[in-house]
Amino acid sequence: MAEKMGIGIIGCGMISGAHVRGYLDLIEKAQMLAVCDVVKDVAEKRASSIIQETKNRAQEAAEAAKKAESPEKKEKLEIRAALLDEYSKAEIKIFTDYNEMLALPEIDAISLCTPPFAHAPITISAAEAGKHVYCEKPMSRTATEAKIMCEACNKSGVKLGYQSGGTRLGPLNHAIRNYVTSGRLGDVYYGRQTSFRVRGRPGLDMPNFSKWFLDSSKGGGGGMYDIGVYQVDRVLYLMGDPQPATISGTAYHGAEPLYDGPDVYDVDEHVTVFVRFENGMTFTFEDGWITNMKDMTEGIFIFGSKGAIRNDTLIVDEGKWDIDDAGNKRRYNPNLVEKTLEMPKMSTPSKLEDFLDACVDDGKPISAGEDGMKVMEILSGSLLSAKLGREITVSELYSIEAMRSEPVPGWPIG
Ligand SMILES: NC(=O)c1ccc[n+]([C@@H]2O[C@H](COP(=O)([O-])OP(=O)(O)OC[C@H]3O[C@@H](n4cnc5c(N)ncnc54)[C@H](O)[C@@H]3O)[C@@H](O)[C@H]2O)c1
Repeated sequence: MAEKMGIGIIGCGMISGAHVRGYLDLIEKAQMLAVCDVVKDVAEKRASSIIQETKNRAQEAAEAAKKAESPEKKEKLEIRAALLDEYSKAEIKIFTDYNEMLALPEIDAISLCTPPFAHAPITISAAEAGKHVYCEKPMSRTATEAKIMCEACNKSGVKLGYQSGGTRLGPLNHAIRNYVTSGRLGDVYYGRQTSFRVRGRPGLDMPNFSKWFLDSSKGGGGGMYDIGVYQVDRVLYLMGDPQPATISGTAYHGAEPLYDGPDVYDVDEHVTVFVRFENGMTFTFEDGWITNMKDMTEGIFIFGSKGAIRNDTLIVDEGKWDIDDAGNKRRYNPNLVEKTLEMPKMSTPSKLEDFLDACVDDGKPISAGEDGMKVMEILSGSLLSAKLGREITVSELYSIEAMRSEPVPGWPIG
C-alpha cells in the first residue's frame, strides 16, 4: 500500500459529500482518486465538487497561514495549502461501472455510499479486488448479507468498516463502556434506549432525501434501519459487544395522515425490540421516524445492581439500613445520588481516520464488519419477529433469511 491511501467513492449521492469532506480533512493520509455512480452526470458532479472543495480548502489554508500565530503553525498550514493545491490539479477518474473502478491498482479502499441494496454485491467485488471497504449504514438489508460481506472481506484479508455515526468514539462512550464492563455498576442486567422523530421520513418529510429509504426491497427497513441503526450500534458498544441470542420485535406502519402518493412506502415507522444477549443481559430498543408523543425523556438508560447510567449521568445508591436496638436490619432507605461520570483523557480520531489507520496498521476499525453483523441481526430480527408475532433466535433468523430471495429481501411492514 502506498504511503497515502488511494480512495474510490462508489455512489455519489447525498452522503458521499460528507465522505469527501472527511477525506479532505485527512489529506496527509488519503487521496480521492476516482468516483463511480450508475448515473454518469451524478458521478461527474461529484468529481467536480471534489476539485472545487479542494481548491477552496487550499485557499483557506493559505489565508490562515498568513495570519498564523507562530512560525510552526504557519509552516504546517503552508504545507497543507501546497498539498491541497497539488491535489486540486490531480485527475479524478469517473466510472459508471464499479468493477472497472475496482480494477485500478492505485485504489486501496472504497467508500461505499450507495443505498443498502447495493452494499453486499459491491463489498464482495471490492474484497475480491483486494480493496478495503468503508460502508455506509445500515451495513445491509439482512443479517445474512452482512455475514456474507464479512466473510468476503476476511477471506481476502481486507478491512470492512462501517459508518456508524461515530457512536463508538469519544470519551463519553469509552467512559460508559468502562463502567459497564469493569463491574463498577455491578451486574448490568438491563437497558433501554429510546429515540423518535416527530415526522422524519427521508423522501417524505425530508424531501431532499431519496425515495428508496421508503422501499423495503431497497433499504431493508424504515426508521429502525435508518436511525435505530446508530442507537443499536452504540448500545452494543456500551454494553461490551454482547452477542444477541433472541429477539422479539413489534413494528408499526400507519401513522396518520397516511401517504397515498405514487412511491413504494412499505417500511416500519416505529419499532420496539426486546433483545436477550448470550451473556444474560437484556435490552429494549424503541426507535421511529414518526411519533405523536411529546416531551418524553429519550436516550440510553442502563440498569446495574450497584448503579445506573442515564445518558451522561451516573446514578449510585448511597442508602442505609435502619438497624433496630437488637442490631437487626429493619428497613432499607435508598438514596439515589447523581454523579458526573469519570471521563478518560483521550483524543478521538474521526470515523474515517479510525478506518484509514486500521487499514494501514492492520488493526480493527472501531465499527468493524462483525460489529455491523450483530447490529443487522437485531434490525432484521426485529422486523422478522414482528411479522411472525413471536420471539425468534438469531440462528432461526439466518435459517429464515436463507429461504428468501430477491426481489423482496427487506421486510415490508404494514
Ligand atoms: N443522506 C444522508 O443524510 C445519510 C446519512 C447517513 C447515512 N446515509 C447512508 O448512505 C447511503 C447512501 O445514502 P444517500 O442518501 O447518499 O443516497 P442517494 O440516493 O442520495 O445516493 C445514492 C447514490 O448511489 C448510486 N448508486 C446506486 N446503485 C449503484 C451502483 N450499483 N453503483 C454505483 N452507484 C450506485 C445512485 O445512483 C445514487 O446517486 C445509504 O446507505 C444511507 O443509509 C445517508
